Order: sequence, then structure tokens, then C-alpha cells
Amino acid sequence: MRTQVVIVGAGPSGLLLGALLAKAGVDAIILERQSEEYVLGRIRAGVLEQVTVDLLDEVGVGARMHREGMVHGGFDLLFAGQRHRIDLQTLTGGKSVMVYGQTEVTRDLMDDRKAKGLTTLYEADNVQIHQFDSANPYVTFERLGKPHRIDCDAIAGCDGFHGVCRASVPKSAIQEHEKVYPFGWLGILADVPPVAHELIYANTERGFALCSMRSATRSRYYVQVPLTDRVEQWSDERFWEELRLHLDPQARETLVTGPSIEKSIAPLRSFVVEPMRFGRLFLAGDAAHIVPPTGAKGLNLAATDVKYLSQALIEFFVDKSEVGIDHYSQRCLRRVWRAERFSWWFTSLMHQFPDMGSFGQKVQEAELDYLVYSEAASRSLAENYVGLPLNFGE
Ligand code: APR
Ligand code: PHB
Repeated sequence: MRTQVVIVGAGPSGLLLGALLAKAGVDAIILERQSEEYVLGRIRAGVLEQVTVDLLDEVGVGARMHREGMVHGGFDLLFAGQRHRIDLQTLTGGKSVMVYGQTEVTRDLMDDRKAKGLTTLYEADNVQIHQFDSANPYVTFERLGKPHRIDCDAIAGCDGFHGVCRASVPKSAIQEHEKVYPFGWLGILADVPPVAHELIYANTERGFALCSMRSATRSRYYVQVPLTDRVEQWSDERFWEELRLHLDPQARETLVTGPSIEKSIAPLRSFVVEPMRFGRLFLAGDAAHIVPPTGAKGLNLAATDVKYLSQALIEFFVDKSEVGIDHYSQRCLRRVWRAERFSWWFTSLMHQFPDMGSFGQKVQEAELDYLVYSEAASRSLAENYVGLPLNFGE
């Protein structure tokens, strides 16, 4: 088999890259280790920046998102027992975010690929990438018990944090930057109406909590937990009680509880590798970087990586120019570090850290107080939350 680009991974990065390349007439095959159902079973964040919404529209998969997604013009910060609204629209000159689950984005991209007859090979085992430091890379894998080989011009490593692509780069050629946080998020999904129309990010002496949603009848809630906690220790009743203790009196009263349909604990991590290009191998999305979920930048960053990568690859294949691929890593990393900085800052501001004591708590509350009463500070938060423009600073 031969194609122009082998994309490893059918998460949002790989699927969106596939759609952008197909639109430009560049051939690509996606190889995915898991089954389609497994990929669709993952539950991740659900806040899309305008840039991501525009990209989904650009590839023609935005219709359901515009029908079912919820446009949010603000969110609440809850601290010292009170809620304060960050009015994104007023602070950013009319910008907002789209609340629409990553799972749904993935489904829309998968359906579109199928409708267009584009190749995605699910349950591809033992994917290995070869000779990516040359002009003739190739990829091998097994599927349905048979070995396969695909020759190509470029490989896109869209295979997430635990993927094979980053792991195939010699250690001496790659630099890792990592920060692991001493807590996780316990999240539940439940078919109950959301506690409020918009998201609530809560800072309390018990730790962080987040009230989010997937629709008018489905809610997504999180509370901060120690890394040593196991999900089995958290009955639904215990979760709801804990969440309630993080809320203000009005939200406590409005909160509707019910059986969870998903419950899991996710650790928080900041992670970046540099560079993101190695010859004809290009990393994108979680394969190259992880942000903690506070602020929901993960999917948005993956989307802008693949936008930059598609531009670079289209220049390479259509215009026969290497300028784009030569600048890919530098261009991406600038945006990545801005989002890393924001996600780290918002995480640090909102969570309880083991050594912070009452002094640390008071300083967080003072910063939050400054944030909601200083227009300059709120604007900075809002500008980052809705997402910086694609060509910011270029
Ligand atoms: N071979 C083939 N596929 C692989 C391999 C492998 N060796 N290893 C991993 N994969 C697949 C995974 O099964 C997964 O479907 O790569 C895909 C990677 O998808 P994600 O982890 O979702 O990463 P990405 O597409 O970069 O999405 C960006 O945004 O909200 C954040 O972290 C969140 O997933 C999210 C991310
Ligand atoms: C979510 O809905 O899962 C979500 C929303 C906002 C975040 C993180 C997660 O910052």
C-alpha cells in the first residue's frame, strides 16, 4: 500500500487532520489501535474555542455542533462562598465558547470520513514507524492476524500521550518538559439538568470543583481528589455530598442529583516535547503535549496543531515547498506554551495544594478577588479562555 500521509491515531487530532488533508486533495490513511466503539467511549472535556468551531465548519462537519452545542458567553468563578460571572462576550468584544463534548466532535468527524469513503483502519495492532529520518518513511502493522506495510511521504503522530510515535524518536533528539500535580479530578456524568446555565469553576478550602454539562439534560461534574483515591471509594452519594460542599447556597439548592452513567479519576499533568518534527515525522495533539483540564485547552490545542500541520503538508505536497514543514514545530510550540502557561496558571489558582496552608488559600482568594474586580485582569482571563487567534503574534 502507498499513501501520501499515514496518520497514526483516530482521536480528534488524527480525524481532523484527515479531514483537512482530504479537503485539499492530499491522500491519507488513518491507523487506529482501538475499535471505533472504544474511541467513542472515551469521555473528555467539552469546551470548544471559536478557532476550533471554525475548523470544524471549514471541513464541513459543524452542522450538528451548531444544532446541539450550547454557546456560552460567560462562566462563573466561585470562591469565598460567592459566585462571580466572567462575561466573556463583553470582555473579548463579542467572543464566546461552544459547549459540545469531545466525543461528539469525534463522532461527527468519523461519520464524515465514512460518508466520504476515506480509509480508517481500526484495530491496527503493533503499529511501527520506520525510516522517518529519510524521504521514504513507512509504517508496518498487523490487522486481522495479517502483517501490512504502508509506504508514504510523511507520518503524522496523532496517537496521544501513550502512543508509539513519540516513543520511536531517539531520546537524544527530544526534550521533555513535565509537571505532575499532586491531585486528580474525579468526574461523573449524569442525566440530570445542569446546576446552572453556564459553567462554574469553584475554589474552596476542600479543593476545586467544576460544574459543566453536555446538554440541557446531561451534566458533567468534577471534584479534586488525592491521587491515592480509587474510584471504588466514591459512591454516587458520596460524590454528590462532596460536590454540594463546594457550592454556594443557591447552587446547593438547585443541584439535581441522580445515578452516574460514568465515573472516573484522571490525574493532572503538564507536559511538552520539543521539537514536534523529526524529519518526516510530525507530532500533533496529546502525542506532543498535555495540559491539565482546567480551562479545557487540550482539544483546542490539538485542533490548532493539526491546522498548522495541514497547512504545512499542503504546502509540501501541492506547492512543493518545505518552508511550512520547516516552521511547523516552532509555530506550534509558541501556541502550545501559551496554552500550557494559561492551563498551569488556572490550575494553580483553583486547586488546594498539599503545602499551601491558610496563607496559600488566602492568597488564592485575593488573586480571584482581583481577577473579578479588575477589568484588566478579567480581560486577560477571558482572552485566554476563549482562545487566542490562530495567528496571534505572527
Ligand atoms: N497505534 C495506533 N493508534 C494508537 C496507538 C498506536 N500505537 N497509540 C494510541 N493510539 C490511538 C489511541 O487509541 C487514540 O484513539 O491514538 C488516539 C489518540 O487520541 P487522543 O488520546 O484523543 O489524542 P488527540 O487526538 O491528540 O486528542 C487531543 O484533547 O481534550 C484533549 O486529551 C484530550 O484526547 C484529547 C486531546
Ligand atoms: C468538561 O465539560 O468536561 C470540562 C469543561 C471545562 C473544563 C474541563 C472539562 O475546563
